[in-house]
Amino acid sequence: MNVLVTGGAGFIGSNFVRLLLHQRPDWRVTVLDKLTYAGNPANLDDLKTSSRFTFYKGDICDGSLMEKLIPPQDAVVNFAAETHVDRSLTGADDFLRTAVLGTNTMLEIIQRHPAIRYIQISTDEVYGSLEEGSATEASPLVPRNPYSASKAGGDLLALSYKESFGLDVLITRSSNNFGPYQYPEKVMPLFITNLLEGKPVPLYGDGLNIRDWLFVEDNCHAILTVLEHGASGHIYNIGAGNEMPNITVTKMILEALNQPESMIRMVEDRPGHDRRYSLVSDKMRLLGWKPEAAFRDQLEATVAWYRENPVWWESLKSGAFKEYYRKMYEERKGYYE
Ligand code: NAD
Ligand code: TYD
Repeated sequence: MNVLVTGGAGFIGSNFVRLLLHQRPDWRVTVLDKLTYAGNPANLDDLKTSSRFTFYKGDICDGSLMEKLIPPQDAVVNFAAETHVDRSLTGADDFLRTAVLGTNTMLEIIQRHPAIRYIQISTDEVYGSLEEGSATEASPLVPRNPYSASKAGGDLLALSYKESFGLDVLITRSSNNFGPYQYPEKVMPLFITNLLEGKPVPLYGDGLNIRDWLFVEDNCHAILTVLEHGASGHIYNIGAGNEMPNITVTKMILEALNQPESMIRMVEDRPGHDRRYSLVSDKMRLLGWKPEAAFRDQLEATVAWYRENPVWWESLKSGAFKEYYRKMYEERKGYYE
């Protein structure tokens, strides 16, 4: 198998490439990544020496580059996206460009090479905020922020190529991932690294928003299962059933780092903050997938990884990140009160 992983220098993509190279010893993996602020070649450092691994810096919207990279592949797995909801609230052009136009660029090429399997990596956020019940793959798409709207746009476009041209398109929609190599703007690595630096943790609103936490390696196993065994044209929800209010997760992180609850700052809420995401993942389970371990163990392993790899995250939290943090948090109501 030859697999192109777009966005493979990001958090989930790099974990997925590692899984492929370790568990599929005869597969060749090509990574194409734009290396935005969130893309990091260091995420792939341990894989660089493999003769089955090739890296290209580039943009999925670049038709002539993609025209060279896609045709020799058996499959394309598209992780490339702008991924932070908070950033999408202050400007979403790049979100739309990558999620919609970039997806279209690749599918137009695959239209001329229809044997290639295309996996679109999407999110539970496209189903919107669910006060009760859980979303199945047939639930309506009700995205409520520019990030999730851009992802829903990419999903619908990908499905349209299945309907219009019979392409071998599949979609995975996972819940919130956590684990090693996650850029420290997202809640888990932000809180863990803040505490390691002796800084407080800024919890939005009343802290009762609910997310379903999925360990990144479990998600990567699920995506590999879909790549190998998924039915063409199908959507697969991937959730681990770890639904928890943010305050509960925050207290577990504090406990794992032996820190007091006084480190929590209740700050002004995110505008339009989705209250709850929840998935029915029966279809994925029918393919034989399930999470490998308990949430608490995976959380503790994640905390340990950030504790043991300060060199990886300290550089990411310097430079432009300091300005981002000042604007996003230090000027926010509640941070210093
Ligand atoms: P990330 O921000 O860590 O990585 C995204 C990667 O895409 C980066 O390496 C970036 O450089 C690259 N990229 C961005 N625009 C590009 C472009 N135009 N061309 C090529 N590369 C580009 O994100 P992540 O958390 O690893 O998420 C990966 C995918 O999974 C995204 O599509 C995201 O929507 C989806 N997802 C993430 C989560 C989560 O909890 N992190 C949950 C569900 C779905
Ligand atoms: P995040 O990691 O940004 O993922 P998403 O918004 O895609 O779910 O946030 C996860 C949850 O944590 C979400 O309910 C918002 C909340 N949150 C905070 O309370 N404080 C923070 O500093 C961040 C980044 C998020």
